[in-house]
Amino acid sequence: MAEQLATNVTWHDHAVSSADRSKLKKHKGAVLWFTGLSACGKSTISNTVDHMLNSQGVHTYLLDGDNIRMGLNKNLKFSAEDRAENIRRIGEVAKLFCDAGLITMTAFISPYRADRDKVRALLQPGQFIEIYVNASLETCEKRDPKGLYKKARAGELKGFTGIDDPYEAPEKPELVLDSNTKSIDELAGEVVAYLKKGGYLAL
Ligand code: ADX
Repeated sequence: MAEQLATNVTWHDHAVSSADRSKLKKHKGAVLWFTGLSACGKSTISNTVDHMLNSQGVHTYLLDGDNIRMGLNKNLKFSAEDRAENIRRIGEVAKLFCDAGLITMTAFISPYRADRDKVRALLQPGQFIEIYVNASLETCEKRDPKGLYKKARAGELKGFTGIDDPYEAPEKPELVLDSNTKSIDELAGEVVAYLKKGGYLAL
């Protein structure tokens, strides 16, 4: 975890608690952490979950890989250090959104187990829901919507996850989505069902 450099800073408790914020929204806050290879379906599935929940009156927000890398994290590349910092910042932002009472979704490759576990440790038990979007490298390479696998295979793009950079699959994710065979709507439905069953959508 990044070292704190600022001195003379003091933590202030807020007058409105996390529970107060949830009460207003009539559901719990949580972080749905989608992880998986590029093109495995993280963005599409999380967008569909976002839409399903929003239309049921659930307060949500989606932090999406490419978008965040065009703003908050525009100064980061794809070294292991930069990926760790990418995930650390997203984790902190997701924690704030969760505290605000939102069902927060994140869609990042987040290839390193240790980086994801650090985010889990930031949150209360039950608040971090790790969702492994499982699509084989073969499936992702076939989809290749941005042509990046092709570039990586041709040696024009170095350090691409799954080709010449590691992806560490979760060992004990809360949910595994089989993105090789099932449809986006089916998988998004599995996520919503998990939230309903776990009591996240009510207080
Ligand atoms: S992470 O590894 O730090 O979690 P993140 O999800 O933010 O990655 O960004 C991944 C996206 O960046 C990919 O879907 C792809 O479009 C793009 N990208 C560009 N270069 C790389 C690379 N070397 N490895 C993986 N993805 C890359």
